[in-house]
Amino acid sequence: MSEYIGAPSELAQRAQAKLDTLPLNMLQEAGISRDRSTYFLNIAYPSMQAMPEANPSQVLRETETRNGQCVALYMHVPFCTAECYYCHYYKLFRKPPEVVDSYLDTVRQELQMQSQRFGGLEAASVYVGGGTPSYMSAGQIDRFFQSIHENVSVQGDAEISFEMHPESVTDDRLAVLQAHGVNRINIGIESFSDELLRSENRRHTAEEARAAYNRAVSAGFRNVNLDLIYGLKGQTVPMWEESLQAVSDLQPASATMYYLRLKRGTPEYQLWKRHPETFPTDDELLLMHAMNFEHMEGDQGYVQNPVDWFIRDPKYFHTYQDHNWRRSDETQLLGIGPSAYSYVGGWQYYNKNDTDQWQQEVSAGNLPIWKGECLTGDEPMRRTVMLGMKMGMDRSSFAQTYRTDVIEAFPETWDRLHQLGLVDISSDAVDLTYTGKLFADEVGQQFYSDQMKGRMEAIDPELVSTTWPQFNQ
Ligand SMILES: C[S@@+](CC[C@H](N)C(=O)[O-])C[C@H]1O[C@@H](n2cnc3c(N)ncnc32)[C@H](O)[C@@H]1O
Ligand code: SF4
Repeated sequence: MSEYIGAPSELAQRAQAKLDTLPLNMLQEAGISRDRSTYFLNIAYPSMQAMPEANPSQVLRETETRNGQCVALYMHVPFCTAECYYCHYYKLFRKPPEVVDSYLDTVRQELQMQSQRFGGLEAASVYVGGGTPSYMSAGQIDRFFQSIHENVSVQGDAEISFEMHPESVTDDRLAVLQAHGVNRINIGIESFSDELLRSENRRHTAEEARAAYNRAVSAGFRNVNLDLIYGLKGQTVPMWEESLQAVSDLQPASATMYYLRLKRGTPEYQLWKRHPETFPTDDELLLMHAMNFEHMEGDQGYVQNPVDWFIRDPKYFHTYQDHNWRRSDETQLLGIGPSAYSYVGGWQYYNKNDTDQWQQEVSAGNLPIWKGECLTGDEPMRRTVMLGMKMGMDRSSFAQTYRTDVIEAFPETWDRLHQLGLVDISSDAVDLTYTGKLFADEVGQQFYSDQMKGRMEAIDPELVSTTWPQFNQ
């Protein structure tokens, strides 16, 4: 049992008892253990760090269509009022309204350019993320959605999500969002401990976070997701339990429970490397994770799907994430804005992660692309499994896309994962087991090809020896 002041709570004991039944030592020997700094391997395949710079004219030539394109649309809004110390996203701080206005001009141009590129655009889902989309004023949000509606035909039943920081969940913004058909609000809460909120520079209290949630619900939003993070520096197991309890007291439609991802090279990562004792230990992190299942699923009746998301009712299932991960080979993902990620016509690429450069390229009429590539051979299948396993794979849709069964495509990897108790394989699906859910990122990482591992090795040899210990045997 991990160390903390006072006796472990009933919830912590239950979660620990569950963990005690798992073969954690065997998993560790097999290279399956949580590493907070390798999450980036599972966001794109291969990770952005291993992607070459892409040639925008080549991408355009190879992906242009004339008959319209149905996409899951991601819009990146790169503005925040200040920096939260843990955050790993691309963002800019305290920019004046005219900078946001100029960003909005470029968003409109980029959307026009993309609509021309594909001969029209249709969106099956829309996700507005950041940064902090609610940094924009109500008037700016109105302009933002006008640009979308002018250039994209959003399907009538499309999920339209919008991220908000508690400090900017205001009635005027909520009214504009509603007028534009936004039907899912995502509020960053992160913790219900005022001490942690202060130490991470969140700029709101737990009480203000609750008020923001209640304001969104009172405005008529039923589908409100709350983001929380466990593993923050200074966080104890009882502090996490307090946050878990506070979330379930609100009974939101869904809640995301992220473990703290540490981005290499950031001050937070350096602190963890130099002073790991500042953060919860690996055992505590795992215990907090197991507590999420005990509390949210066991006590509260939520269901985790996909990994990290707990939903109260299937009607609140996160469609955009389904398009992005499980249906990653059927759905085209189109990213607009600096640093946005796209997967279109077999090409995956990132937009420039610098707002000035992104604006220069768009103004010059160029696709504002930075890194990316078109995967070949069995690599698209590997990408599909790596992302799809966050939700579970449907064997027949995989077979339809790739003309081969997913198990037959990677028999040895599945065999090993099955022997380690990480996956359930049935005739129609492959799913993570309870243990697999605890190590979902690590399961996905097993599908990296030797070629891609070789690329990662060139970037960071230590990464390969810790993530794929069996790689060089
Ligand atoms: C773009 S932010 C959400 C909206 C808004 N900017 C806010 O902070 O309230 C998206 C979410 O990513 C999560 N996040 C950011 N950095 C993270 C990290 N290093 N590890 C895990 N989750 C992180 C946080 O839960 C955050 O709410
Ligand atoms: S967590 Fe949200 S508000 Fe904080 S820096 Fe990241 S994007 Fe900005």
